[in-house]
Amino acid sequence: MEVSHKKSVLITGGSSGLGFALSKIFAKNNFDIYWVSLYEEEMDSAKKMLQEEFPNIKIEYKQKDLSDINAAVEIHQWMKSKNKRIDILINNAGFGTYGLIQKIDIEKELKMIQLNVLNLYQMTRLFLDDMIAYDSGTIINISSNSSFQPVPNMSTYAATKAFVTNLSRSISEELKYKNSKVSLITVCPSAIKDTNFKKEAKMEKVKTFSGLATTTVEEVAKDIWKGYQSKKAFIVTGRKMRLLYAIRNLIPFRIQQYMIRKETALING
Ligand SMILES: NC(=O)c1ccc[n+]([C@@H]2O[C@H](COP(=O)([O-])OP(=O)(O)OC[C@H]3O[C@@H](n4cnc5c(N)ncnc54)[C@H](OP(=O)(O)O)[C@@H]3O)[C@@H](O)[C@H]2O)c1
Repeated sequence: MEVSHKKSVLITGGSSGLGFALSKIFAKNNFDIYWVSLYEEEMDSAKKMLQEEFPNIKIEYKQKDLSDINAAVEIHQWMKSKNKRIDILINNAGFGTYGLIQKIDIEKELKMIQLNVLNLYQMTRLFLDDMIAYDSGTIINISSNSSFQPVPNMSTYAATKAFVTNLSRSISEELKYKNSKVSLITVCPSAIKDTNFKKEAKMEKVKTFSGLATTTVEEVAKDIWKGYQSKKAFIVTGRKMRLLYAIRNLIPFRIQQYMIRKETALING
């Protein structure tokens, strides 16, 4: 495989929301960019927008539903067919569901588990093997603050993100024990107010998006970039969320759960 000297990043769900905000930062830092997302037209217009500002970087994309079984194998093959070694993989694509578990469409939840858990797992395994072979590279897995505790009304989503946080932090420890130059960064954002996530999850009227720790897509992307540069293994994004995370063990579990219930309740609901 040819080793390219120009750095490159593969971002799932890179053409919108947090993925696009990250793409802007990586473009500014002269990375070539590869995207995988659901909608070709969206990627095409996002590419035009970014390329206008950063004409010297390469942007390529592939349309793929990452909740398809073995989508990760296809994406891995796609990169191999380009003889391209990825410096950074960002497993960002993901969505949420909202409501009492018995009221949520089971097919939608199975799709979410396939995307948030199984695809992320398989992407991590496949690209990690390559990175370990070269003893170089970084995987950034986007989890959530929902992974820290039980989250009523988001039971399955919170469980998918608990998987992401525990898998990613454990692998990161394994890499550290081996003194590997490969790193895995776990990112836990709180509610981001300006992405499609809340619309997709039918959460527009949920209090958390106007709550205490609400953040913006720019703040989250900036924190991730800063954390990557300073070689952090675990990033809680947003100033207010970091403060809450630091003091959470001082708050009794019942009070934490009361606060979470309020956060995930409907406005006027
Ligand atoms: N927003 C929040 O409050 C929040 C908080 C904590 C963590 N997160 C996490 O942050 C990550 C990014 O979310 P976001 O807020 O930026 O949401 P978003 O605006 O909805 O972006 C999600 C991205 O994932 C892609 N995607 C969704 N389903 C896909 C599929 N089946 N196959 C391929 N791509 C798919 C979407 O592609 P298309 O644009 O082509 O549909 C989109 O680019 C997610 O993992 C989410 O769980 C979000």
